[in-house]
Amino acid sequence: MSSHANSLDRISLDSLRAYVLKEEKFVCLTAYDASFAQILDDNHVDIVLVGDSLGMVFQGHASTLPVSLDDMIYHCQAVARGLRRALLMADMPFMSDASPQQALKNAARLMKEGGAQIVKLEGGAVMAETVALLSSRGIPVCVHLGLLPQSINKLGSYRVQGRDEASAQHILDDARTLEQAGADVLLLECVPTDLASMVVKNATVPVIGIGAGQACNGQVLVLYDMLGITPGKRPRFSHDFLAESGSVSAAIAAYAEAVRTGKFPGLQHSFK
Ligand code: KIV
Repeated sequence: MSSHANSLDRISLDSLRAYVLKEEKFVCLTAYDASFAQILDDNHVDIVLVGDSLGMVFQGHASTLPVSLDDMIYHCQAVARGLRRALLMADMPFMSDASPQQALKNAARLMKEGGAQIVKLEGGAVMAETVALLSSRGIPVCVHLGLLPQSINKLGSYRVQGRDEASAQHILDDARTLEQAGADVLLLECVPTDLASMVVKNATVPVIGIGAGQACNGQVLVLYDMLGITPGKRPRFSHDFLAESGSVSAAIAAYAEAVRTGKFPGLQHSFK
């Protein structure tokens, strides 16, 4: 196990950059309550994401769109109580970042009231002004690119993004623009492995992947997917770690180990 994984020091953006410099993978999972958050923290998960996926896996909605800022703050507060070491990342829910000023006000609430240490927002170059404003006011930002669940009504289905040359170039350009605007972390969802490799190669900030292959600096999954408790078909990029582990804690430990040793994600969890 790496030196970072043994440390009880609070994870920060610097810790993530150090992982990248040392070519060590970091581990991220979602959580929505204090009990799971504590299990993740005890098992050295580096980033705990209070994702707006809670709208689907916790609240039972068909998409993430109905999630409110108050919902996010409530779940962040619960998760924050379970954490000692992990970095707490919170999603900006649908349209809470509709304008730069609105994003500033709402990101501040996620941090002040929810205890978030970094906010994540979905979108491409159109979000550059927002990212620049948040960054200039001392708010760390992760930008979510590739498959954007908040755009499901425009996309029509949850499918791999960036498969043709033009859309791949678009994602590469967005990544560069947002990094220049001040993004501290990028997150790539459901893109081909070659495209993810190019984003990582060009990036000077840590890149987290979900369904984006092995090249990303860190990996994230929705907790309920990797415990096999999300109703319906499990996404191809996920894996049921509980089925082979015997306890929730052992499943989290197995996932963290598989990410750190490069065993997860495998080719079967990735896209061409
Ligand atoms: O909301 C969420 O859980 C996410 C992950 C899928 C990355 O954004």
